[in-house]
This record gives sequence, structure tokens and C-alpha cells, in this order.
Amino acid sequence: MRMYDLIVKAREGAELSREEVRFIVREYTAGRIPDYQMAAWCMAVYFRGLPPKTTAELTLAMVDSGATLSWSELDTVIVDKHSTGGVGDKTTLVLVPWVAATGVKIAKMSGRGLGHTGGTLDKLEAIPGFRSDLSRDEFIDSVQETGLAIVGQTNDLVPADRKLYALRDVTATVDSIPLIASSIMSKKIAAGADRIILDVKVGKGAFMQDLSGARRLAETMVDIGRKTGRNTVALITNMDQPLGFSVGNVLEVREAIDTLRGKGPADLTELCLALGAEMVVQAGKADSLPAGRELMNKTLATGGPLEKLRQMITRQGGEAGVIDDPSILPTAAVVQEVVATKTGYIEDIHARTVGLIAMGLGAGRQRLEDEIDLAAGVELLVKVGDAVQKGDIIARVHGATEDKVAAAKAQVQEAISWSALPVVAPPLLLDRVSR
Ligand code: URA
Repeated sequence: MRMYDLIVKAREGAELSREEVRFIVREYTAGRIPDYQMAAWCMAVYFRGLPPKTTAELTLAMVDSGATLSWSELDTVIVDKHSTGGVGDKTTLVLVPWVAATGVKIAKMSGRGLGHTGGTLDKLEAIPGFRSDLSRDEFIDSVQETGLAIVGQTNDLVPADRKLYALRDVTATVDSIPLIASSIMSKKIAAGADRIILDVKVGKGAFMQDLSGARRLAETMVDIGRKTGRNTVALITNMDQPLGFSVGNVLEVREAIDTLRGKGPADLTELCLALGAEMVVQAGKADSLPAGRELMNKTLATGGPLEKLRQMITRQGGEAGVIDDPSILPTAAVVQEVVATKTGYIEDIHARTVGLIAMGLGAGRQRLEDEIDLAAGVELLVKVGDAVQKGDIIARVHGATEDKVAAAKAQVQEAISWSALPVVAPPLLLDRVSR
């Protein structure tokens, strides 16, 4: 088999056989296909797409490029959740303990933030002592004993994706739907998921900027799930404005705790309810989505989800006292208010810009090896549709120095657009893709 011929096939949009796809993934991961040929193949896929069968074969070939996790010891269905990434997206911190409190076992692998989007691991590591680098045995024991754990993805899972993603990143081929779909789904399958719930973000702060692209990505992942025997459901959700009010690691941990107390932002709470209902149905704890929502609501009222978070933090070496006393969390040296310069209605809070402001303050990284400032970030006090009077406080900026905070305050003003007329708040849940 020759890589040259497979590049020609991809250029023609032809289906590749299982053997051909496995050849590409195996030989590239082993370093026997050079980057320039793989880059040409990715660019052909970028322009021509990949037939659905080939996309599923690519996903499974990537899964087989490394180790896989098995949860057979737990004797239960493993339901996993994945978000395609956004700004202020602390959903996992809330959803995992909340669903675990219904009796579903959750073994979650999460990532770090990059660019304008945050990562769950960085948020959790804002809790003093919290360890996300559990060994495989510690991970399994934690899930067995407490019903939940959140860890970083180990390097031995899907090495093909790591190498391919780095290549895509420098060859302008990241935003290819079959390549994104196979990258995400291969990691979920390798981590042992039986059922997968996807939160596909769309809008100014997301990978996918338009609804039709987000729908195609969701359909492609759901189709991979069907073809590989992992029941997959995708919700398509709005990411034009940040989720909740807080963007930045410590700030988001605080907001997650508030939400588990039943005092969180309406959009974050609603998203967790919608995703959680899907998860409990998939796990067999409820037989319909309305029943799943009811179970989620009842569970929150018992205080069980906050207890689950406490158990998880303690089990993973963290200071669980943060739940009762968030002042234990690191705080920024400088906190300043942003004040409305006019009276009117909030028309837009540009999510990507707010993510970049938080990154500029040190809350996120440009490269994976960058250090981050856990306490830095932007705390918004308004959402799209709110009526605001001139002089109202609309945000607080948290940072390490006066200069950084002053620059960020000006940028926050620019990230917000105003209307003199009332603005209807945009819907959060835009679509659901299943089967
Ligand atoms: N997230 C992933 O894991 N992979 C992609 O290709 C894009 C986003």
C-alpha cells in the first residue's frame, strides 16, 4: 500500500477500506509516513470530507493506536459527557457530581484549557491539593468507592490523535468536521464510554460558528457512535455569550459550587439539567427525558450533588473545605469594577473576546506548557437581554497587576454591545441530534 495512492483517493472523496485507514493511522503514528504526506491527506479531507463509513473506521483505528480503559470491574454502563469547548464552560464541575448523586457512576477524563477556552483540569486544580494525575488503579478505585472521579487523559490513550492534532494545528486542518469528530469520539471510546452525551457548542465563543456546521458535526459524531456501537446523543447549545457569569479558574469553581447549592446562573443550571437528564436516561435511571429532569431536580434538592463534590475533592487529595469556605481559594491581588457607560439593554457579550481577555489576564494559556494564574478572570454581572442603567456595575476584573486589570477593563467594555431597545435573551438549547 502506498500513502501517495491514499492521498489521491482522499482528493477524489473516495471511500477508504478498513485496511487502508488502518495503514494510514498505524504508519503515521509509527513515524513511517512523513508529516508532509499526512498533511496533504488532511488537507484533501478538509476539502472533500470523508464518507461516513471511512470516518467511523478512522475513529476505531485511532482508538487502537494506544491503550484503552475497561470498566468491567464496575459492572455498570459507563456514560460519558463531552463539550466541544467554550467560554465559562464549567459544566463538568457541576454535572459530574450532580449525576453521580443520582447513583450513576462517572469516570471522567478531562483536558486543559487552550486559547480562549478553559479546561476542567485547570479549574479543579484551583482547589488546593487537588490531584488529577491519578494512576489507573487509583482512578478505578475512586469511581468504585465514591461513584465519580475526574482525571487528566493519560498519554497512552489515542497517541495517533495527539500526533495528528499537532499536525492539523499547524496545517490549517483543525476545523474539518470528520477530523474533529473522529478525534473527539476516539478519545471517548478509548476511555471506555458505553454511552456518550455531547454538548456541541455553536456561536462566537465556539469552534463551530454557525448552526448548520454544528449540526453536521453533531450528526457526524452521533453517526460514529451508531456505527461503533456507542449510543450517542448530542445537544447543540448556544455559545455566543459566556456560559454563566464567571470566566477564569477560581471564579468558575465558586460558580460551580453555587450552582450545586441551587443558586447558580439560570443558563448553567438549565444546561446541566438538560445534559443530566440525557445521562440518567442513558444509564437506565429514568425512562424518559422528563423523568430524567425530575430525577435531577429532586436530587439537587437533597444536597447530594454537593456532597458528591466534597467526596470527590477529598478522595483526590483536595481541600474540600473550599465548599463551605471559598475564601480558601486563591484570590487576585487586584479586583476592579467595570461600570456601564450608558443606559440600555445588553445586546451581545462576545464570548470569544471575553475568553481572550481572561487569557490575557493569565487565566488561560497560549501554549500547553504555559503557566496560568488561577485567580485571574472576568466576573460578569449581566447577561444578554438585561436592562442596565448608566453607572451600574456590569463586571469585575480579577488580575495580578493594576496594568493588566486596567487593560482588561477597557476590553470588557468593547466586548459588550448595547441596544436602546429591549433585547430578547437568546435560547440556550438549539437542537438535539440522536440516532
Ligand atoms: N477537540 C478535539 O478533541 N479534537 C479536535 O479535533 C477538535 C476539538
